[in-house]
Amino acid sequence: MDRRSGWAVALAPLVLPLFCALTAGAQIDLSGYWAFRVKDGGVLYMQLQQTGENVVSVAQAGRPAGRPGALTGTLHEGRLHLVSTGPRATAFDGAVDAADRIAVTMQATGRDPVKGTLERVTREEAFPVRLPLPEVRDVADNGLARTPPMGWNSWNKFADVFDDATVRQMADAMVTSGMSQAGYTYIVVDEGWTSGRDAAGNITGNGKFPDMKALAGYVHSKGLKIGIYSSPGPQSCSGKMGGGYQGSYGHEEQDARTFAAWGYDYLKYDWCSAGEIYGPTREEHQAAYQKMGEALLKTGRPMVFSMCQYGVGDVWKWGAKTGGNLWRTTIDIADRWDSMDRIGFAQLDIAGYAQPGHWNDPDMLEVGNGGMTAGEQRTHMSLWCLLSAPLMAGNDLRSMSEETKSILMNPDAIAIDQDRDARPVVRLAQQGKSEVLVRPLAGNAFAVGLFNRGDQPAEIGFRWDALKFNTGLYGFRRLQARDLWKHEPVEVAGDSYTATVPGHGVVLLRVAIASGRGL
Ligand code: GLA
Repeated sequence: MDRRSGWAVALAPLVLPLFCALTAGAQIDLSGYWAFRVKDGGVLYMQLQQTGENVVSVAQAGRPAGRPGALTGTLHEGRLHLVSTGPRATAFDGAVDAADRIAVTMQATGRDPVKGTLERVTREEAFPVRLPLPEVRDVADNGLARTPPMGWNSWNKFADVFDDATVRQMADAMVTSGMSQAGYTYIVVDEGWTSGRDAAGNITGNGKFPDMKALAGYVHSKGLKIGIYSSPGPQSCSGKMGGGYQGSYGHEEQDARTFAAWGYDYLKYDWCSAGEIYGPTREEHQAAYQKMGEALLKTGRPMVFSMCQYGVGDVWKWGAKTGGNLWRTTIDIADRWDSMDRIGFAQLDIAGYAQPGHWNDPDMLEVGNGGMTAGEQRTHMSLWCLLSAPLMAGNDLRSMSEETKSILMNPDAIAIDQDRDARPVVRLAQQGKSEVLVRPLAGNAFAVGLFNRGDQPAEIGFRWDALKFNTGLYGFRRLQARDLWKHEPVEVAGDSYTATVPGHGVVLLRVAIASGRGL
């Protein structure tokens, strides 16, 4: 429903009586359901209850406490003043001159003031009732993502502060920087592109994304593919003012058809406010994702299905059944060593669940975003490649340093990630903060990562014969090894290899049976 355009018409008959009531000094009763909307910034729903001049927001069953945060305040002499409690106090202030629509300024502590509008809405819009979920059944494989998807996603760098032009420039840069040549293909528009729905219930772009179909056309014209973002819940996760953008709840098939008609190739589907509707069980998650997985298949357009529910219910065990091509296994990554380190190494136990078409997703890359040293970023890239993780760059592709490019576009690291055998990485050894990870590769080769998770340099090594080559009838043959960050051969001598690995650093090797021709 386009409440905005419908407003003038709906309000007209009310204006005169309302004016009379206001001038007569009658107090407006704000009790009821409201949406606080910010231009291009999403929506925050609340239920207000007014007693005399006191106004409070009422907690709703099923809504996590603190969202929007308990509001208390007054409507005094035509001025509404509401304040939320909690760590980041937020004030809403506005002059009430209409019973159903109030211009309000929101001021969160430490943030710029945001102008928006409180609009009266139905209970169902503010707090949707639970719709039935389908019976759990296996969704057919869509045949996509035979190797881990590679691309770029807006979230890590821009959050929801970006627009159509940013995305087009990123597509341009994907090509001119050499990223597309290196294998990066998908440009994914994360949270921040929706406004709401039109009168027919079709999801609509906001002022920053006026024509999502044209945007897809532009990205395709660059020889790339494009992704879009939604949620099984009514709203996405954050938005500028603590609310969220439009999700696909109750419109799953309609939205899948829209995304297909616009020409999208990839959907990131983020749990977010679905937690206010459905329970936290594996069954509820599976059914909710299956609903969209089936809807995407039904469109007939190939669309990669990227599940984002942070690993709830061991998603790696059932994500493929919903039609998922990749599934987030963790909460959000941050651009810091400790976050990347914790998330990355926690993936080893579940590495065996990744398979062609269905990948564990330890979240997008933070390479090039400034929060980690070059060495830490090489560790990040090496680990993600050993894990067969989707490689979704999360930096500004328009302004990459040579160092960033050398990390994101290291062809040897990418070849490990994209290895057609997709065999799982295993931990060969762990001692203190040192880890040796090994992954068998197609063509009778191995990738070996010597990781130093500690702060000080460490000697890390492994025995060559720990790599179980298939030597067949011919017995043991000579090995050849290459350092994939130094881009030079490594001498294979003696029983073992040992390197001094800097703190938070990695040595990444490819070891193969010598061809006789040297390296
Ligand atoms: C969640 C996801 C992120 C991003 C944001 C958008 O936190 O995990 O990757 O999509 O939502 O709000």
